[in-house]
Amino acid sequence: MTIGPDHDGADVALRIERRWAILAFVIVLLLTVLAAAAGIHGAVMPQGQVEIVDPRLLHIRGEFVESNLGTALEPDGSVTVRAIGQQYSFTPQCILVPAETKISFRGTSADVVHGFLIAGTNLNEMLVPGYVSSFTARFDAPGEHVMPCHEFCGTGHEGMWARVKVVDKQSFLDQAKDGGRLSCVGQ
Ligand code: CUA
Repeated sequence: MTIGPDHDGADVALRIERRWAILAFVIVLLLTVLAAAAGIHGAVMPQGQVEIVDPRLLHIRGEFVESNLGTALEPDGSVTVRAIGQQYSFTPQCILVPAETKISFRGTSADVVHGFLIAGTNLNEMLVPGYVSSFTARFDAPGEHVMPCHEFCGTGHEGMWARVKVVDKQSFLDQAKDGGRLSCVGQ
């Protein structure tokens, strides 16, 4: 661009600045529209995978009856933990898992929303009545973790907590060889 006799440098600078300001505004506007569209889409669409369970029947039939809670060594060698939260405790009160093993956790609530957090790890879920919460985890080393409910669930909330005991894999397999559901309640 040449600066002719009719233009001084300030005019040119102003025009260029305005052009860049408009461009920046358009970019911000575009990002805002994209973020809003993504947020609204996520809020109105159902989740890809939702498992529902009737909280009134948990104790009577289905996957979360008391005899099926705890840690199961599945026939294919994988490990599944099933637990429920209710005002104001978890069942089982002590969850036994092997180290260095992929573990599937499946949990739900019998009444209100509870938190499911294993201290010292990044495992943090909610137990929501009517839904199954599931996630996988792996513990590198034996040890004990506290598992406090971290979602206010009523007057007994602060007393609602359980433990997770991680034992070495062989010790777990020895305890699991007779089948059934394992926990570390009383250990
Ligand atoms: Cu359960 Cu707080």
